[in-house]
Amino acid sequence: MDAAVSTAAPVVYVCITCGYAGEADIELRPGAILAAATERAAAGTEVEVRRLRCLANCSRGPSAAMRANGSWTYVFGGLDATCADALIAGARLLARAADGILPWRGRPEKLKRGLIARVPPIGFQEIDP
Ligand code: FES
Repeated sequence: MDAAVSTAAPVVYVCITCGYAGEADIELRPGAILAAATERAAAGTEVEVRRLRCLANCSRGPSAAMRANGSWTYVFGGLDATCADALIAGARLLARAADGILPWRGRPEKLKRGLIARVPPIGFQEIDP
């Protein structure tokens, strides 16, 4: 399947090239470690994990993003491998949100602290701008 084709399943994108700001380059990037942990955490769930190179959040990495069909897109930073379960739980929560917004209540703590930005879905228009 074409990687750009949208899917109804929630997707977590993990940047595999992220390191920690100010730390020396190492062969096994913290982002790649996070990606592997997130893939393990997604096993047996409906969540799809996709690896990518750079979410333009390099100075605040390791980084990941998530979206579900028609939802807002959420970008997180300051992550590490211990955040893998939170990413999967968050993606599942987002997929169940009728308004496409990741609810604060029930959101894993690591996704509250690590939120960088949210981006509206295509076609979104504020009701009362
Ligand atoms: S290298 Fe990970 S966000 Fe840029």
